[in-house]
Amino acid sequence: MSYLSYKVRVPGKLMIAGEYAILEPNQKSVVIAVDRYVTACIEPSKQNKISLPKLGLEDIAWEINEGKVRFSIEDPRLDFIENSIFVVNQFLEEKSIKIIPFELQIKSELDDPSTGEKYGLGSSAAVVVAAISAMLAIHSDGKKQPSLDKIFKLSAIAHLKSQKSGSGADIAAAVYGGWLEYSAFMGKRVLSQLEQGIKLVEIVERDWANLSIRKLTPPTSLKLAVGWTKSAVATAPMIRNIQNFREHNLEAYNQFLRESSIAVERLINGFEVNDCIEVINALKQNRKVLQKLGENARTDIETEKLKILCTIAEKFGGGKSSGAGGGDCGIAFLRDDIYKKNLYDEWEKASIKPLALNISEDGVLVRENDSKLSFF
Ligand code: PMV
Ligand code: MG
Repeated sequence: MSYLSYKVRVPGKLMIAGEYAILEPNQKSVVIAVDRYVTACIEPSKQNKISLPKLGLEDIAWEINEGKVRFSIEDPRLDFIENSIFVVNQFLEEKSIKIIPFELQIKSELDDPSTGEKYGLGSSAAVVVAAISAMLAIHSDGKKQPSLDKIFKLSAIAHLKSQKSGSGADIAAAVYGGWLEYSAFMGKRVLSQLEQGIKLVEIVERDWANLSIRKLTPPTSLKLAVGWTKSAVATAPMIRNIQNFREHNLEAYNQFLRESSIAVERLINGFEVNDCIEVINALKQNRKVLQKLGENARTDIETEKLKILCTIAEKFGGGKSSGAGGGDCGIAFLRDDIYKKNLYDEWEKASIKPLALNISEDGVLVRENDSKLSFF
């Protein structure tokens, strides 16, 4: 049997609204895919090898030994890959598909091209989606490619096994692309099903409680701008702070959930009725809700730099921190492109770097290597 080579392209993401609240059941968030990508190439080989050249990791050999993925070197940055291999391996074994050795190379353009500093565009989620899609593709033997839902669920499991927290909104953006309304599945429930020994194949086939992913269309005149604060932040410790606040202040936390939900519903409703001003006001409202959460939980969600970014954005429309906050990027919503230049000038004076990002309508794309439909 001859196996084919594949290339895969996966967009990065930015959270627009509903951060933190989205970690709870029945909350909504808005997330977008952006046109910076993680790419992967996979080809059959004599030996299993992984390369992530941007991380200085080249030709790392690996094998599965006593049910564990073992690499030729130890590096915590391989955790996400380890769980991606583990999940795909289990899934294929359950389907009685023979696993072949392959070479997988993954490159990311999600970070700063010159300094390599992280913008916070969801690189770990995009890397997991790229690795899983590539591994599934090479084992499809040229037959029908796996569905996006299957890629989403396997990636969500691999990511959760590595990061232990997270809503999966970043995975949804990477898989489906565009503007999305996202409600999270119950991560703990999925992981406990796995621990109970329920087959992955079965878990992937099931409906996941509370999971909902829906494409949104933004108001026609709405323009998005993104600014980078020039400082990177890890999401997991920020989430731990908020979880800690939740444990000791349930009432205030529930109030936060209610307020977040009102702001996000208002935003989504503004999308549905094509009302740009309403959407800008909803963004400002979500900003206030997150500011209050940060103050109550003594967690620097809207840092000084993000505050400056938002204050400038509000001169021309609305602004807010994106994602966990604490650094990374902030976003601005504008009524018209004409405001962009002034916004960028003022951001730059305040040492905020405008990022020329657009929406990626595509989510993950998988192509045979010799396909004429090339994307890189
Ligand atoms: O900072 P980011 O882009 O990784 O976003 C984190 C958003 C949270 O809601 C705080 C966590 C999550 O997984 O949704
Ligand atoms: Mg972030």
